[in-house]
Amino acid sequence: MSLGSRLRTLLGPRLARRVGRAYRAIFVDLECQARSLSSVLPTGAHVLDVGGGDGEPLNYLLDLRTDLRVSSIDPSDAIGQWIEVRHADRVTCLAGMTLEAYLGSGCPDPDAVLIADVLHHILPAQREQFMASLGKLIERRPATRIVVKDVEPGTLRSLLGYWSDRYVTGDRQVSLVSRAELLRLFESLPGKLSHQEAPLYAEDSPNYVMVFYR
Ligand SMILES: C[S@@+](CC[C@H](N)C(=O)[O-])C[C@H]1O[C@@H](n2cnc3c(N)ncnc32)[C@H](O)[C@@H]1O
Repeated sequence: MSLGSRLRTLLGPRLARRVGRAYRAIFVDLECQARSLSSVLPTGAHVLDVGGGDGEPLNYLLDLRTDLRVSSIDPSDAIGQWIEVRHADRVTCLAGMTLEAYLGSGCPDPDAVLIADVLHHILPAQREQFMASLGKLIERRPATRIVVKDVEPGTLRSLLGYWSDRYVTGDRQVSLVSRAELLRLFESLPGKLSHQEAPLYAEDSPNYVMVFYR
């Protein structure tokens, strides 16, 4: 069991959430993040939140954008436990679900895919397969927007986040994805995608948000 899981068990759900919020604020300003995400998501979008985790950042986004609906998927069994009750009717949580499985499930294709702090948890050797699934979706539904939130390496704050992922979350294989590396990954997708960067990096570096679209 990771240090983070042990602490959550020890503190209990309410206190763990309060401590979790304060701890997360060291690494990212979730209000700022939500504003950047909001700026690149289409009106009325159905958003597929890949690797949604506890769902805490979604609360900020859904407060800003009452027009969005979200399907949140995660290969893990724990998902969406911190999504506020006021948003529950706009979020569908699918535990134990990968992107590939979602796309083959017959569930509706999303208008936008959100990949927030997930790519750096996927082993570099497995990123190609993940990107291939995104490529399949883009081919099937070219209007889909792909929104990536991640962390630019090379600063003290990103190093602290990296250590936190390794030693608190317990993912020893984490490897940060720079914006240059992200562009390289998206170049492997079929057809030429355009991209745009949201203001997050300027406002809350080293966090960044990039959006890719046909
Ligand atoms: C740091 S959490 C981010 C959670 C959430 N997106 C957020 O911004 O708070 C990383 C999440 O990625 C998920 N994950 C790991 N590998 C994945 C993969 N190959 N595909 C989708 N999700 C994955 C993990 O289970 C975990 O919930």
